[in-house]
Amino acid sequence: MTITSFPAGFIWGAATSAYQIEGAPREDGRGESIWDRFSHTPGKTQGGATGDVACDHYHRWEEDFGLLTAMGADAYRFSIAWPRILPNGRGQVNQAGLDFYSRQVDALLDRGITPYVTLYHWDLPVALDDAGGWSARATAEAFAEYAGVVAQALGDRVKHWITINEPWCVSMLSYQSGEHAPGHQSWSEALAASHHALLAHGLAEPEIRRHSPGAQVGITLNFTASVPASDSPADRDAARAFDGYFNRWFLDPVYGRGYPSDMVAAYMGAGFLPDGLSFVQPGDMDIIAAPTDFLGVNYYTREVVAAGASPGEWQPVRLDTPRTEMGWEIYPEGLYKLLLRLYSAYDLPKIYITENGVSYMDGPGTDRKVHDLRRIDYLRQHLAACQRAIAAGVPLVGYFQWSLMDNFEWGRGYAQRFGAVYVNYETQKRTPKDSFFWYRDVIARNGLQD
Ligand code: FCB
Repeated sequence: MTITSFPAGFIWGAATSAYQIEGAPREDGRGESIWDRFSHTPGKTQGGATGDVACDHYHRWEEDFGLLTAMGADAYRFSIAWPRILPNGRGQVNQAGLDFYSRQVDALLDRGITPYVTLYHWDLPVALDDAGGWSARATAEAFAEYAGVVAQALGDRVKHWITINEPWCVSMLSYQSGEHAPGHQSWSEALAASHHALLAHGLAEPEIRRHSPGAQVGITLNFTASVPASDSPADRDAARAFDGYFNRWFLDPVYGRGYPSDMVAAYMGAGFLPDGLSFVQPGDMDIIAAPTDFLGVNYYTREVVAAGASPGEWQPVRLDTPRTEMGWEIYPEGLYKLLLRLYSAYDLPKIYITENGVSYMDGPGTDRKVHDLRRIDYLRQHLAACQRAIAAGVPLVGYFQWSLMDNFEWGRGYAQRFGAVYVNYETQKRTPKDSFFWYRDVIARNGLQD
């Protein structure tokens, strides 16, 4: 048997986010978020699912931390619910909210688990949404204030910070396609939102550093590999446009390149930017490009694209390939290529995979165990891709599996299960799946085994 080792000190972890697991939306002074409002609006989530209870992690977090210990995790990535800290988005601080997370941080450190804190994983306070949400510049300023409040309370113990999770989802999925809260459908709002989410990241960074000496600060972007349906120049152009829309629009500004000019031209041509880039104020691009300590990469799948109706447009092509429960194609090669590209084309000090994982509905069998062998296969292939990338020189220093446990999968409600741990939502019983034990062994030996 061969063991493919990861570098010494590689960080192994699991990830969650507040709204997806906590429940307790009204407890201890928490304000309302856009996901409370959206999920309670008929027709917005599958089966009308809400995060009202979710995994009841608000009351069961100590039990859940026991799972992290059993997994052998070095680190845990979780998010802070902004409306628990500032119920109205700005102004009055809710001490009970800070205390809740402060206790968690202490408990993690006691267990020898390093907290990786995400400040925004999509639960915007509704008061800010009422004032324009992410399409309003003031939301970026409010985020920086909120980041300062949290860093002041936790920054003595938390040394790894992720500002914004997936600005593509914060803007495009939420303001253009409308699949996520607040469910708007406007290109111009979405493009303004993308800028304000990136600006929020840049404005928050100095706030975090001020209150958390020696902190490592980064942003998490989600990437979808963009693959042309054929070698034709038109399909290759389409793949470049999809890459621009999904990946480069966010990556380039963070690394000092500004918004990609081909995409600005395409958006202008399509009439999506009626006032041009008027939301960009002098100095913004420097704020967004302030040096970070790491890039968080979320990777799940690829999109195969063909030329659309006019030049620069693309349309997805659905190949007859195996897909996960989400309908996403399994494409580990995309992760390998992405990591190499990030390394060779951008000046990155460090990379973490902050999310990678898969949804399959496997549940307990007659032996009460969960034999999620397809998840093991998915994880093995993606970890092998990571390993190859490291061997090629990519400074990949950690990997967080999405997710520690099954949870509220946004618009898809409870009809998707990404967890290493199965959650029975009627009893709240947790059952570690076979992949949990497999991942535990990977962590223990710091590597894959044939
Ligand atoms: C990512 C999200 C995460 C989860 C996974 C499946 O886009 O960050 O919360 O929903 O997808």
